[in-house]
Amino acid sequence: MKTRVRIVLLSCALGSWFFFGCAAGRRSEPLRGSLDVSNPKVAHGQVVFMNQCDKCHPGGDAGLGPSLNNKPLPGFLLGFQARHGMGAMPAFDKEELPQTDLDDVVAYLKALRRNG
Ligand code: HEC
Repeated sequence: MKTRVRIVLLSCALGSWFFFGCAAGRRSEPLRGSLDVSNPKVAHGQVVFMNQCDKCHPGGDAGLGPSLNNKPLPGFLLGFQARHGMGAMPAFDKEELPQTDLDDVVAYLKALRRNG
């Protein structure tokens, strides 16, 4: 009887270690693999994105706005949407988002998409 209790306890402990271990690993490890930011346009685009877009499109995923990392939208349309806005998405004028910044955001979004 005692051994049986011990086995049950042991398997519980092992089970939860396995379960939580996996869950924790899953959470800390990005599912898509890390983004290659060796391209300076992509790296800068990521910074601009974090400042301007991430609050509604967190990490390119859906938030208040739809996800951007799984859309086959061509670059000029990504840029057009940011410049002109649509529905609940605000427009970003050239003061707020200079053309080079916008180009870099588009480069970043394309890199995200290649990555996913
Ligand atoms: C205040 C929240 C908000 C911010 C900030 C924001 N967006 Fe959006 N975005 C939205 C919403 C909401 C939509 C959906 C608009 C609609 O179709 O009505 C959207 C849609 C889009 C789309 C079209 C996606 C599709 O599926 O058609 C693109 C591309 C996009 N946003 C890019 C950007 C970029 C780039 C930035 C940063 C420069 C940005 N967004 C910042 C809220 C936001």
